[in-house]
Formats: sequence, structure tokens, C-alpha cells
Amino acid sequence: MIELGKITGLKGEVSIPGDKSISHRCIMFGSIAKGKTEVSNFLQGADCLATINCFRQMGIEIENKKDTVIVHGKGLHGLHAPTEILDVGNSGTTTRLISGILVGQPFESKLSGDESLNSRPMKRIMEPLNRMGGNISSILRNGCAPLYIAPGTLHGIHYNSPVASAQVKSAILLAGLYSDSGTSVTEPSLSRNHTELMLKEFGADIHSQHELDTTKATASIHPCEELFGQKIAVPGDISSAAYFIAAGLLVPDSEILVKNTGINSTRAGILKVCEDMGADITLIDQRTEGGEQIADILVRTSQLHGTTIDGDIIPTLIDEIPIIAVMAAMADGTTIIKDAAELKVKETNRIETVTDNLKAMGCDITATDDGMIINGGNPLHGATIHTLLDHRIAMAFSIAALTADGTTKILDSKCVDVSYPTFYDTFEELL
Ligand code: S3P
Repeated sequence: MIELGKITGLKGEVSIPGDKSISHRCIMFGSIAKGKTEVSNFLQGADCLATINCFRQMGIEIENKKDTVIVHGKGLHGLHAPTEILDVGNSGTTTRLISGILVGQPFESKLSGDESLNSRPMKRIMEPLNRMGGNISSILRNGCAPLYIAPGTLHGIHYNSPVASAQVKSAILLAGLYSDSGTSVTEPSLSRNHTELMLKEFGADIHSQHELDTTKATASIHPCEELFGQKIAVPGDISSAAYFIAAGLLVPDSEILVKNTGINSTRAGILKVCEDMGADITLIDQRTEGGEQIADILVRTSQLHGTTIDGDIIPTLIDEIPIIAVMAAMADGTTIIKDAAELKVKETNRIETVTDNLKAMGCDITATDDGMIINGGNPLHGATIHTLLDHRIAMAFSIAALTADGTTKILDSKCVDVSYPTFYDTFEELL
């Protein structure tokens, strides 16, 4: 538990830890590539450490030297059967992406996670992977992990995904590496494309296409002989940067330079929303490294106003909705968030965790079936925040606490370790 109260004048620079999605992929793709993959600015969060442990259990040597991680890949067919159940912890990305690799292996495996993970929907990957000839099932027959995976013979498919989910897309594309023919996935709108960008760098035969006149996006892969180890500098995670962007905007008399942040357009929806809400934000020194766009982001205190967030932008900011809701609570006027039913199947049901906790702080907020309506501008007051062990709820409400009267208690604040173990230390640097 941590107690926080109102402050003013956050000033200085923050360096953002590595992107969670990209860090996971470096380990996974590095493990099934030939040769050494050297990763700098790897995120040392619990989720990514779970991915490292899973691949170590399958015989991959991974040196974790904190700043740098070195994966000694053994090629597409070099994994060994794990001796124990793979522990995926709290990580949906580990579970869904590793499943795409495991269905292509000649050995059996089982994976399981914590209570939250084991209640998240896995049919969304089981259905297409089994359609490809995979053998993946829910051990408790409830559509969730623990999962059991037996060897299968994979065939390429074309999959029309009902959800815009990078985890679903990536699982299918990874299984496509082990199939006897080409595989493609069409999603209703483009989700984060790190798998497509990074697999290409590793030498995969992979292509992406945005359909003209619709918002649909298709990614296709053809099996290849081998992937090859890479040197990767992981950009700062925009999902982690989001808390300091919001802090800079909401805390009076603040100016923060958020350094080295990935601004890949499939992730940067929050920047567009900030602009729509009247935020004073400047992107500095925009550059591209390893196919990913990066910038430093200068943020100054701003009076925000309400906006509507819906449609294709949702997948590009899905993880930032808790902190966007906090911004909306402090903004003049009404913010409407819709088309975001996916929030219900994150680490917690984030429609509920966000509305319940913002209500407790005095905000006029209503949950809807696919989002929320926030009438901003009421001063927030201190409250006890029930994070339900959701890292993004803990961080979003830590920022809300900085603008609220009185004291706010964030229960189980240690859960920030999942994606940002140094979150509270970084804050100290700005005081
Ligand atoms: C992720 C994809 C998103 C996101 C998650 C990380 C990824 O999930 O919410 O935090 O790394 O592919 P979905 O693909 O389920 O939308």
C-alpha cells in the first residue's frame, strides 16, 4: 500500500523503461531464431521475466544482465519439452503468443498463470490455432488457462478475427511459422504491429496490408527455413510514459520531458487524444530505430477539455484508458469512451475498476457496456483505491491522487512491478 497526496510543480526529465510488448517479443523471437539476440533497455517487469523463465524451461540460455539481455537462440526447431508447467504469471501476452509457438512443437506442454490470468478468455486463440491443426485445450474446459498443448500438424489458414487484438494476430502468425503453407489474419482495425515489424527484422517472410476504403488490416506470413538473431534497442513504453504525460498535464506548474518513448502509430492514440483535449505537448527529436518510431515528449500543465474516443483509435490506446479516464475526470465537460468492450477482459474488468475507483474519488462517471461517460471538472478527493492487483489501475490512480484533496491510499501498489517496477522511484526524481 502507498499513500499519496496533492502536489504541485513536477519538473525534470524521465527516462521510460523498455516497451513491454516489444520486450516479450525479443525473448520469444530470439529463442526460436538461430544465434545470439542482444536486447538493450529490456523491461525488467514481472510479465517479461515470466517470458524469460518459460523459454529457459524449454532449454534456451538467456543471460539477464539487467541493462542487456542476451538470448542464445536455437533456431525454429530447437526448443525442448519443458519439465514443469510453464508459469505465465499475470501475462496475457506471454500466454497467447507462446501458445502460437507451442502448437508447432513436437512435444506436450502445459501453461498456467495467476488468478487473473486464468480467468481471461483463451478461446480467441484456441479456436484459430485448432483450426490450423493445433491441439490446444482448456484443462478445466472453461475456455481459460491452464492450457494443455499436444503436438499437431499445422496448415496455413486465412483467419478473419472478430477482435482487433495483437495477441490473437501474433499467436496465429507465430503458428504460421510452423505451418505447411501461408497464413494470414484480417482484423477489424489495425492492432499494435510489433510482431510484424520485428519478425521481418528476424528474416521472416511477413507482409502487412491496410485495405483501401475499410479500416481492416491483414498480416500474412509464409513458413521460412530459419529466423536469425538480432540486436535490438527497445524503445521506452508509451503505456508507461502515459502516466508521466498525464502527471505533467494535470499537476499545476509542471514541465516534464518524457524521454525515448516509442510512438509507433499503432500505439500512440493517447497523443491524439491529448491533442483533442487541448494538451500542451511537443514531440522532440523524432527518429526511427529498428523499424520503430521514437521521440522525446515535452509536456506542460494544461487545462484539458472533454472529447469522444471511439472506433479505430481504441486498439491504439486500449491500455491507456485508465489514465485517460483520470485525465477526463479533471477536464472541463464530458468525455465519452465507447467501442472499448475489450476493457472487460484485461487484467481486471477495467470498465468496473476505473468507474468504481473514480466514483470513490468524487467523479461523476457512468459505466456503459463498451466504455464510460465522464462528466469532468469536479474536484477529486482522496479515497482508498482497490487496484485488484491491476498494475495500470495502481499507476493511473497514483496520478489521480496527486491532484486530489486529502490522502489517497493505493492498495497493493506493489503490483506496478508487472510493467513498471521503478514507477514510484521515477516520481521521486521529479519532485
Ligand atoms: C499486447 C496487446 C494488447 C495489450 C496488451 C499487450 C501485446 O492486448 O492490451 O497489454 O503485446 O500484443 P490485446 O491483443 O488482447 O488487445
